[in-house]
Parts: sequence; C-alpha cells; structure tokens
Amino acid sequence: MNNHEFEVVVVGAGGAGLMAGLYASRSAKTAVISKLYPTRSHTGAAQGGISAALGNLEEDRIEWHTYDSVKGSDYLGDQDAIEFMCQEAPEAILELEHMGLPFDRTAEGKISQRPFGGHTNNETGKPVRRACHAADRTGHMILQTLYQQCLKNKVNFYDEFQVLDLLMVDGKAVGVVGVELSTGELHTFHAKSVILATGGHGRIFEVTSNAYAYTGDGAAMVLRRGLPLEDMEFFQFHPTGIYKLGILITEGVRGEGGILINGKGERFMPKYAPTVKDLASRDVISRAIYTEIREGRGVNGQNYVYLDVRPESVIRYAALDGRTNSDGSPFIVTADELLKKLPDIVDFNRVYLGIDPMTQMMPIQPTAHYTMGGIPTNKFGEVVIDDKNTVVPGLYAAGECACVSVHGGNRLGTNSLLDLVVFGKYAGLRAAAYAGQTEFEKLPVDPELDARSQMEMLRRGSGTENVLDISQEMKKVMFDLVGIYRNEKDMQTAIEKVRALKARYKQVKIRDAGKIFNTELINAWELGNMLDLAEIIAVSALNRKESRGGHSREDFPKRDDKEWLKHTLVSKSADEIKMSYKPVTITKYQPKERVY
Ligand code: FUM
Repeated sequence: MNNHEFEVVVVGAGGAGLMAGLYASRSAKTAVISKLYPTRSHTGAAQGGISAALGNLEEDRIEWHTYDSVKGSDYLGDQDAIEFMCQEAPEAILELEHMGLPFDRTAEGKISQRPFGGHTNNETGKPVRRACHAADRTGHMILQTLYQQCLKNKVNFYDEFQVLDLLMVDGKAVGVVGVELSTGELHTFHAKSVILATGGHGRIFEVTSNAYAYTGDGAAMVLRRGLPLEDMEFFQFHPTGIYKLGILITEGVRGEGGILINGKGERFMPKYAPTVKDLASRDVISRAIYTEIREGRGVNGQNYVYLDVRPESVIRYAALDGRTNSDGSPFIVTADELLKKLPDIVDFNRVYLGIDPMTQMMPIQPTAHYTMGGIPTNKFGEVVIDDKNTVVPGLYAAGECACVSVHGGNRLGTNSLLDLVVFGKYAGLRAAAYAGQTEFEKLPVDPELDARSQMEMLRRGSGTENVLDISQEMKKVMFDLVGIYRNEKDMQTAIEKVRALKARYKQVKIRDAGKIFNTELINAWELGNMLDLAEIIAVSALNRKESRGGHSREDFPKRDDKEWLKHTLVSKSADEIKMSYKPVTITKYQPKERVY
C-alpha cells in the first residue's frame, strides 16, 4: 500500500513544483509530493510582482530585462539562461493571465506594472515599470492559480508527506522515499523522472523572510547522494524586512514611491546609487543600510532604519526625483490608492507592530531572503554535475532549490517568480519527455533503508541536546558571521561553531515517541539539513576571495574577474568537502563595473 509508481514525481508544491507538475501531467502519470498543503508553500510569500518586459505603461525591451539581470547578477549569471528566461517572460505572463490569475489592471485594461530594484530603461538608466502585480499578493495568486490548474489536470497530490531520500541507481534517479506526516509511515515512490522543487534554505539565518518550511531539504538530499551544489556562497539579503521579525516588506513599497530614511531623518540612497536611488539592486541597498547603521545613523542607535511610504512623503520625493505619470503630469497618490496596492503590507504593520504605514514610518532591517546557489541545472531543468554540464539521467530541479544560474551573485526582485514559472515548465516538459522514452529502472533492494536509518538514528538519540537550542545558535552564527559583510576571521569562527553544533546534533534527544504528526522528529531531521548546508555555505564563502553581488568580503572588497568569474561546485564525500569550478557563460555582455 505504501509503494507507488509514477512516471514523474515532483517534490515540492510551490510555484516551480506546481508548474512542473502541470506540464509533466499533460503527457505523463505525475505525482506532486509536498511537506505542506500546496497553497501554504513559500511562493505565497512573494509579494511585489513578476517581471516581464511587456511595456504596458512605458517603453521596455526584452534586451533591457536581459541586460539588467546580467548586471544585477554581478556578471555571475549564465547569459544564455538569462536570455532564455527574459524571452520567455511575456508568454509566461499571458499564460498565467489566461489561467485566471487576477493581475491588477491599468485604466485601459492592460496588466499593470510597477518599478522594482535594478530594472531600468537602459537608455536613461532610470527605473522602468516591469513588475506585473496582483496587489502585494502576486506569489499567493500564482500559487492559487497553478494549484487550481493542477487539480483540473488531475495531478496526483501527496500533501503533508516529508520526502527524506532521493533514490539513485547507477547514477540515475529512480524515485524518492518520504514519510507520511499523519501516520509516521514510510512510502516509496518509484519514478522514471524526479523533479526537485523544494525551495531555499533561509531558515539557516536568524532574521529571515522565509517560511518555517525553508530548510533546504532538496539541496541537502542531493549533497548526501554525493552530487555537487553550485555557488552556495551567494545568499540574498532583502533590504526591507520588519525589524527583528524579518517579515518581508515588499520592494513594491519602493516601487510605489517609498523611500529609505536613516536615524538622522535623511534620505540616504542617493549617496549610494545616484541614478536609481531607492530602486538599486538588493545587494547595493542592503549594504547601504548596514553602512548607515555601522556609521551610527541607525534609528535611536539601533540596527534599523525607516521605510517611508506616507502619501505626503511619496508625493514630495516624486517631485524631487522628477517622477511623473505616464502622460507627464505630476505624480500624486492618495492613502486609498496605496492601500489598494499594498494591502498586506499595511496589515502586517498594523498586526505585528501596531503602526499605520499611511501615517507612520516602518522600522526595517535587511532580512535573509533568497538562495541564489543550489542544485546545478541547465536551462531545461536537467541536473548537471560538472564543468561539462554532464546531465544526471532522470533528475531535474527548478525554482529556488536550483541554480540555473540566472541570478548569479545577486537576484533582481521579481525574477524569482519568473524563474519558477519558466524553469518549472521546462523541467516538467523534459522530465515527461524522458519518462516517455525510458523504462522504469529497478529500485534498490531495500529502498527505504537510508530513510529508515535516518529516522531511527534520531529516535534512538539518548543525549541531552535539544533541536531548538542548536537551531537558534546556528541561526545566530550564520546571521552574525556569514551575513551581509563577511571576513576570513568571522567565517573561520563560523565554520568551527557550525562543526561544534554538528557534533552536538548527534546528542539530540527526541522526547516525542509518537508517530502521528511528530513535528519534533521532523524538525530534528530538517535541522540536520540546515547544519549540512550552513557548513557548505560558510566553507564556500571563505573560499571565494573577492566581493561580488551578495557576497561582500571586507578583506577582499573588489570583484576579481580574473580569478573568480567562475561558478563554484561544492560536494561532500564522507566528511571531506571538495571544491571545483565551472565557467560562466558569457554571450553578449562583457563584465564591467556596476553603477546604479
Ligand atoms: O520585494 C518583494 O516583493 C519580493 C519579491 C522577490 O523577492 O522577487
């Protein structure tokens, strides 16, 4: 009863997993397995928009979107994949619209678009309106829309199943093993193709915008199977998370005219990015905020600054910046209009802080937001393992757990939703095509052996350590020592501390002996994944001796294209971490200095 057979198995039911499941299910018997109920996936937390050069409100070009993404990536993104993603973008948006996604509209009925960081008119250098949005709930709407389409297409869902192991035979993926959370029973899913769409690992850090579920399960499973991960040193800090809580305050707030203000009441971004100011790329703004704080200009001497979207401020700064409506008339906005465009942001502030962003400024600090590195793939979602892009038969990855690499050293806002829709689709198509031309491989003799022993090891633990203590210490170490600014001494310390935590992890005691929804056990297993990835991130970051995108080293403050214009591949066998490299694909755009 616990053995299942599907041609394609997708792990994860966020935007990438649902898109992959939808496309695969059109020609192959497909299952989507998720640790959550699908519409609770983290894609739902994406707020401000999904990018496409539609040019609905002003001139825009696919080529500008491509160049902005290459520049945003600090030239580490693979340009063939970025070109592909940006070309696919307009069609992807129309497809979502036809599926029923309720995008906001312009007065003429076109899909409305707003500016976002790093997206520019390449001729003027000024921000361009490229982010298609559904209020500040764009990810949520994508998730609902895709889930409905999957149900309509009779995709088989296994909700609240935690996948524990990737099954491989002779270098080919042949299925996965998961635990059904409501019973504690193991299930084997035999497959011809496995698509990992398990999301990122932001819960490794203390202050994060990421959901509790974001524990890097897919990347950690791949690592345990001896496969490499790519560019793990690159992790994005979103400039505006709610102070201490980390909850995302969308860049859409700045897209609607919000500005950043330091403790002295000064707007500081023009100093760091004279042309695009508060709409520079995220790495630039996060560092600017930290610099203000470190130089004593945080609010009340604390680790935060303000984000100001009060209508009178928006109007005043729009006039100073020369921002106008599409017809050239002065830009005016009312609280009611902002409320319609940013309802969740207003709610979050009221609920979590008791403040009203229409009359008060919001206290914000950078928050760990997005995993740029991950499971290496080509632009069709096929997992690759080396500098020759050798494909692993039957294994695919898409969305935040994958590294295509379209984001390189720093992702532009709204490109993640685009990434998961575009590459989710192609992973689904490729996986189904592969399944159509192969037979089921034999499973290992006891397919559940590894998953069972992982669970039993945790259940048998008789030490005195508990999951929460180790988890909190890991998060603090990673946030403080491998965060926005990095240096050799801190990262060495972080590696030692994470290794000490890994040793303590072996002494964890699980107090809940039950089988039904044993969240303590699952949290312990997730912590193991996060510790493995924390070590990999810190080691990869220490290894990269330059500053690029989200990886900013105080001891190597410059980008070094001569030595480091290359992707890192990191793998682990026994306890040894191995590094190798693969070249960045450059098509049209030679690296140059980034100026915003
Ligand atoms: O700011 C935001 O709305 C986040 C979007 C993204 O990460 O792409």
